[in-house]
This record gives sequence, C-alpha cells and structure tokens, in this order.
Amino acid sequence: MRYQGGKVRIGKAVAATLKKQEAKYAKELGLTTPLPYFEPFGGMLGVMRYMGEEKGRPVRKRVASDVNQDVVEMWRRAQKGWKPPKKCSEKEWERMRRSALTARTPSAARGFVGSQVSFGGAFFSGYAGRYDPSKDFCAQGARGLAKILPEVQDVKMYALPYEEFHPKGYLIYADPPYDTHYASFGRNKYMSRFDSAKFWRTMEEWSKDNLVFVSEFKAPRGWKTIWKQQVNRAINPRQRTDYGYGTHKSVERVYFYAPPKKSSFAKPTLGLKRSKLPFRTIVPKLHVNQGRRWAPKGQTSARASQKKSPQAKRRMRPTRKSSPKEAKK
Ligand SMILES: C[S@@+](CC[C@H](N)C(=O)[O-])C[C@H]1O[C@@H](n2cnc3c(N)ncnc32)[C@H](O)[C@@H]1O
Repeated sequence: MRYQGGKVRIGKAVAATLKKQEAKYAKELGLTTPLPYFEPFGGMLGVMRYMGEEKGRPVRKRVASDVNQDVVEMWRRAQKGWKPPKKCSEKEWERMRRSALTARTPSAARGFVGSQVSFGGAFFSGYAGRYDPSKDFCAQGARGLAKILPEVQDVKMYALPYEEFHPKGYLIYADPPYDTHYASFGRNKYMSRFDSAKFWRTMEEWSKDNLVFVSEFKAPRGWKTIWKQQVNRAINPRQRTDYGYGTHKSVERVYFYAPPKKSSFAKPTLGLKRSKLPFRTIVPKLHVNQGRRWAPKGQTSARASQKKSPQAKRRMRPTRKSSPKEAKK
C-alpha cells in the first residue's frame, strides 16, 4: 500500500534483517522463544506483515501504534471485515479532508482515502489522480489492503504517540517520519515537524531494555548501520531534483544502538499508562490546493487575512478610548 515513508518495497528485506539480528542475540540474552514485536510508527505495516508467521503459524505477539488515528481506525475496522470505498473523486477527497478538521471521532474511510488517494501516500497532501489520472489509486489501495490484511489480522493496534509507551522485553522496529533537517532537499509542506533529537534520545533509553532497530537515512553518533539499500522517495510533486519532478533517491538504513540487559526479557510489558486519547487529526489546517489558498469554514487563510479591505483596516485601528494604554488607566 502507498504511504509516505512506507516500507512496501523493502519491508520483506528489513523483516529478514530483524529476525537475523534477533537470532544473533538470542544466546547472549537467553531467549528461547521469538520476542514479542512492537512497531510504534506502524503506518501501512510494511514490515509488520512479514514479522508474524513462519510456515503458516503465528510465532509471536505483535503490537503496532501510530499517531494517525484515522489510519489506525482503518486497520481496526478492516480486521473486523470493513471494506474500503471503491471510488473517490477529487470532490469527495476534499470533503473527507475537511471533515477531519471538525470531526470528534476517527474514520476508517478517511484513513484509507487520506493515504491511498493522496500524492506519494502523504496524508491528504494532494489528490493523487491530479498528478497521474491514468491510475485508479482507490482500487489499487483496496487491492493492497485485501492482500496485507490476512498477514496482520492478529496485530493489536493502538492510536497513540510513541511517547506514551515505556516498553520492556520487546523486539522493536521504529520507522519514524524522516528527519527533514537531514534531507538534502530541505523542508517542504508535506513533511511533518517531528522532533528527531527527542526521538533518538528515547530510542537510546528504550535500547536498555529492548532490542531496538531504527529506519532512517542518518543517525546520531553511537548508532551502527546494520542494513542499507537505495530507495526512491516521493516528494513535493512540483519540486525538481536530479531524478526528475517529485522523486528523490536516498540510501535507507537500519540502525542499532546496543544490546539490552538480559534481565529485561523475563516479563515483557509496553508500560502504557493510558490506552486511548481524544481524537486529533494530523491533517494540516491550512492547505495550498492547486494554487488556491484554502481555509476551514468560518476562518480566513493566512494570505487572505493579510489583504484587508480599507473599511476592515479602519475598524482594526484603535480609537483613543479603546487604545490599550487608555484601557489600563
Ligand atoms: C515513515 S512512516 C511509517 C511507515 C511504516 N513503517 C510503513 O511501512 O508503512 C511514519 C509514521 O509515523 C507516524 N507518526 C508521526 N509522529 C508520530 C508519533 N509522535 N508517534 C507515533 N507515530 C507517529 C506517522 O503517522 C506515520 O504513519
């Protein structure tokens, strides 16, 4: 399935690497059975799908989480038989995107459309059909979901930020949003503002009690590369790189910090204090849409609010009586 930073192409190879590393440390850590597996940045479960079964049998407990509550709702509902929409016009896509801004509950359809029918799989970044009208992104996403579903049917899903977890005794694969600070093409509006420094500190902390592996392009000092591969990445469709418009090549790596304490594996726990949070969308409030500024109903876009009519400007000018200094007196 399409997703920004998703591991659809390299998921199998990454999962094989994780299993190999687990086997390598099994003796040192006294492991006799496969470790429970946790992905705090689950997304489209590109690696998770290969971590469950061996020879048709479930081999370990698996848990995933993601801060995108709509995407998690999509997985939870799909595990219970929900089917994604067959079609999604640009109008419907826009209606769903706006609905996230006022919604109080997550929506499986919004999770599906926001990821599968958006450019580069970046959540509601732009209607994908506009950039490639020859493809039926909705049907493609539905086929992908049907294919992956049997492989992730038993995965326990949480809709929480990774900071809520304090795991112990787990095999962990963390695939966070890319650190845009490192990316050679710089920041753009499709990238989230993720605190990477805090993330790496937390992963070092988790490494004391878990076997932790991280996917990124670069890592702070002390982290070792245990696997790498060149990948194509979708970026801002209007941005040109040496590889053409909207695409970029980078070397994706899996990093490891240090083996954990042997005693951590006696009683695995996720260390959760709460399992649910109120709904909060990750859809951006203001959105540049085909050259027009868009703002939620009842609000004005940043650019529109700068262009005030002369009457409005006059209304905003403080009068003698209502000036802040006067008011204080
Ligand atoms: C690179 S993607 C993961 C892709 C996934 N491995 C796959 O194969 O599809 C990063 C994910 O992290 C999620 N995310 C961003 N900030 C987060 C946070 N603070 N806690 C948990 N998840 C977060 C995003 O919603 C996104 O789904």
